[in-house]
Amino acid sequence: LNYNARRDRRHIVELLFNGLRRLEHSGYDSAGISIDADLSSGAVLPSPPPLVFRQEGKIENLVSSFYHEASVAELDLELSFTSHAGIAHTWWATHGEPSPINSHPQTSGEGNDFLVVHKGIITNYMDLKETLLKYGFHFESDTDTEVIPKVAKFVHDSLNEDLGSDGGDKQVVPFTQIAMDVMRQLEGAYALMFKSPFYPNELVACKRGSPLLLGVKETGDMRTDINVESDLSAEGHHGKPNEYYLASDANAIVEHTRRVLVIEDNKVVHMKDGAVHIFKFDSDKSRRLLRPASVQRGLSTLEMEVEQIRKGNFEHFMQKEIHEQPDSLTMTMRGRLIRGGEQKAKGILLGGLKDHLKTIRRSRRILCIGCGTSYNAALAARPVVEELSGIPVTMEIASDLLDRQGPIYREDAAIFVSQSGETADTLQALEYAESDGALCVGITNTVGSAIARGSHCGIHLNAGCEIGVASTKAYTSQIAVIVMLALALGDYSLSTQQRRNAIMDDLYNLPSKVRDVLKLDKDMKELAALLMDEQSLLVFGRGYNYATALECALKVKEVSLMHAEGIVAGEMKNGPLALVDETLLIIVIATRDASLNKQQWKARKGRLIVMCTEGDAEFMCPDRTCRIIEVPKVQDCLQPIINIVSLQLLAYHLTVFRGFNVDQPRNLAKSVTTQ
Ligand code: G6P
Repeated sequence: LNYNARRDRRHIVELLFNGLRRLEHSGYDSAGISIDADLSSGAVLPSPPPLVFRQEGKIENLVSSFYHEASVAELDLELSFTSHAGIAHTWWATHGEPSPINSHPQTSGEGNDFLVVHKGIITNYMDLKETLLKYGFHFESDTDTEVIPKVAKFVHDSLNEDLGSDGGDKQVVPFTQIAMDVMRQLEGAYALMFKSPFYPNELVACKRGSPLLLGVKETGDMRTDINVESDLSAEGHHGKPNEYYLASDANAIVEHTRRVLVIEDNKVVHMKDGAVHIFKFDSDKSRRLLRPASVQRGLSTLEMEVEQIRKGNFEHFMQKEIHEQPDSLTMTMRGRLIRGGEQKAKGILLGGLKDHLKTIRRSRRILCIGCGTSYNAALAARPVVEELSGIPVTMEIASDLLDRQGPIYREDAAIFVSQSGETADTLQALEYAESDGALCVGITNTVGSAIARGSHCGIHLNAGCEIGVASTKAYTSQIAVIVMLALALGDYSLSTQQRRNAIMDDLYNLPSKVRDVLKLDKDMKELAALLMDEQSLLVFGRGYNYATALECALKVKEVSLMHAEGIVAGEMKNGPLALVDETLLIIVIATRDASLNKQQWKARKGRLIVMCTEGDAEFMCPDRTCRIIEVPKVQDCLQPIINIVSLQLLAYHLTVFRGFNVDQPRNLAKSVTTQ
């Protein structure tokens, strides 16, 4: 929303499109925008309805259809606005097919009296729809979101009726009031933005459970500093030339500003004529009361350089992020790994846990909870947590824990692992564990995310922004963080001192070892060229590398779309062996550790690719019938980090050879904020 600066319509539209392009890597499949009509005609309400353009597919489909649509030909793209509130949305189909009608903004009906973009899910939409149908509303989409603008219209019309207003030029009900009354009706998770011709030049946003950020960009030279308390309080922020951005994801706005306020649950943000106000929605108070929010947390500068969201010299974000791992691991360990010296002992410093380590040590059980790659990372680090803490660790896939309503106790410590910090299943599992009294520890890569805020304590990955849908650098940082947690939990024990020192030494050397593995890039590319036409792949691993097998298979299937399965090698004899014949492609992770001589794959016939420790090739495959991937040796609990890097490279090259979209795999999204 621009203030004190005239911007033409083309600028506004392009700004919205660019924001969407920044989110495109999340793998969405439809998009839409809404911009204002010409509002210069005067004060009669409602003003001309906002214009809406929606399209399925990639953002560029929306862009090209926008510029080719007949109605746009009549639009004056040079028309300028002093202030303007535009909204845009990109969407991953959860209810209904990707199509223009199912895309956002969703509308209250003819005349676009209320337009809404929504991130999240409305769980009671069926009930709301049923009621609205009775009041004569017609539905055109299959989305859960469509009920929201319709509830807004219903609220607007009935409040005006109560107040004896016809909703015309004597507008009496504040826009924030409408949003608040809509919030009362909604169940589920949402971040919402509303536009309406009854409130020209206004925009209202609110949230519960889904992320929402407010970015502030100063466009004049009058001031260099923004004071949150006075500028973004209920008194608003008047008379200063600013642009404000609301987004569910910082990537969409980081090119404009890094001054960002994380909006908390139950906050209502109101923009009007170039001023922004933030209110707190309090469901216990009288219906007509919106209390001004005291904005405690200041504008936090996003620790994200614009450069980080560009691909640099790489072809794809996934490739860039794989190669970034020596640096991301260094950032993850920075300030946390104390090297020791003449007087000082080696140690681990985890600031976010300092008041809670004792409680975790006293726990009866540690639960590790996550989804997808984050779950696999916790699984990889589980053995060392058990070893050094002596506490049993149970693994939970977040959705499964919720489905079972598995028992959780006050004596439990629950660790929530999530790159985005916004995954709906993990977030809901956090609420569930918290309500049962467990100590909740968050491990996320996203400062200010819902999981970071909702947990009692935690550790940030500091791996830098991850854009590729397939998680790579976050995975290795998650393992490193949980290994550090294990070291911290066990640091009172003299009997494990030597072991812990050895792990810490190898953590210190880890970035350079990862750099060595990355030199296998060429070999992995060659291997991928050989394998590109395969139908199916099994990956076996055990002990520390059970997770490596799962994660390798997950990477291969999610990006290269080749069927792949990760199997714990101890279970090979209990079923999967039946599949093995001379044609089946198998990767065996057989780097040196305590479980190596239990590997039974040698006696079988499949076409083997063996990952082994450097120097072991001869021992592993004396008759040279298998392909070998040799990797450097580190302490067993860190070996999964080394091993996965080469397999990430393999998955990446396989995808490129097979001609699939590396950064936006079919049907997948970076962060699944619906259940
Ligand atoms: C989605 C992504 C995966 C990711 C999982 C968990 O499925 O496609 O790459 O591992 O969500 O995401 P989180 O942000 O919680 O780690």
